[in-house]
Amino acid sequence: MIFTLLSSPLQGFTDFRFRNAADQFFGGINTWFAPYIRLHRNPEIKNANKRDLLPENNRVSNLIPQVMTNSAEEFLFVAGYVQGLGYTELNWNLGCPYPMVTKRGLGSGLLKDKERINDLLTRVSAESDIAISLKMRLGYDNSHEILELLPILEKHKIKNIVIHPRLGKQLYKGAADLEMFKKCIENTSHRICYNGDIDSVARFRELKDRFPTINSWALGRGIIANPFLAQMIRSDKNQLPDDWTDQFSHFHDTLFRSYDEALSGPKHILIKTKFLGIFFPIVFKSSQSL
Ligand SMILES: Cc1cc2nc3c(=O)[nH]c(=O)nc-3n(C[C@H](O)[C@H](O)[C@H](O)COP(=O)(O)O)c2cc1C
Repeated sequence: MIFTLLSSPLQGFTDFRFRNAADQFFGGINTWFAPYIRLHRNPEIKNANKRDLLPENNRVSNLIPQVMTNSAEEFLFVAGYVQGLGYTELNWNLGCPYPMVTKRGLGSGLLKDKERINDLLTRVSAESDIAISLKMRLGYDNSHEILELLPILEKHKIKNIVIHPRLGKQLYKGAADLEMFKKCIENTSHRICYNGDIDSVARFRELKDRFPTINSWALGRGIIANPFLAQMIRSDKNQLPDDWTDQFSHFHDTLFRSYDEALSGPKHILIKTKFLGIFFPIVFKSSQSL
């Protein structure tokens, strides 16, 4: 079974420290997306984003930066910045569902504005040679939005499109709409990657059987809940490795040390690594139920 596994970005979780440690101890991911860059009033990239993308901070073999914007100028500015660091692709976030973002016509809030998407892609392709990929939901209010957008995207050179088949207004509620995902793949010639709710080997198998033409799959929350997931999918075994507790504790120590070096004082480290607490119960629970 040849397929590509991508790590779908999780702002606040999958920063370079997490990516390096997860890649070192668990493996299985071919390509990592960095959490999005968003420019605020000044066209300036935040130091945290800069640190996250610096080549010397990143040990994973394939990392793709992401931008969330609705302006061609901003896209071009970020494209120039990441190209200066040696990256050749920039992923455009058209999926973020949070009202703070969508109300400003960003993330999934931009999906209904086909003209704006078309204009941005036209201008960026004319003025930059960076490869563009997209990550999107089906729409904000309804899935006509993606069905009307796909024919426009046909006119553009796009490396691939990651589709998370939910609406923005759903946030993470309800089921992913697999029928509509099927309709999307039937209505585009672009390469499509599936994203959404892959949280077990069994779920991955189901989706793989249902969509045999799809060969790239993006894992988001599933990796946080079970950081062994990518290697388990790769080995097609619905079980944790025998020495999972050792592997996990090396990972945990490495990540903790990495935050310890960077953050000042025990309180900060505690806050930052608090999310590690998310892993334990779930990994533990899954080890018992497999
Ligand atoms: C806390 C959190 C942060 C996220 N940050 C980003 C982000 O920076 N860029 C992005 O494209 N998607 C982001 N997402 C969406 C995920 O990448 C993914 O598309 C979504 O969770 C669905 O996939 P999953 O069911 O495998 O988690 C985020 C999701 C969560 C829960």
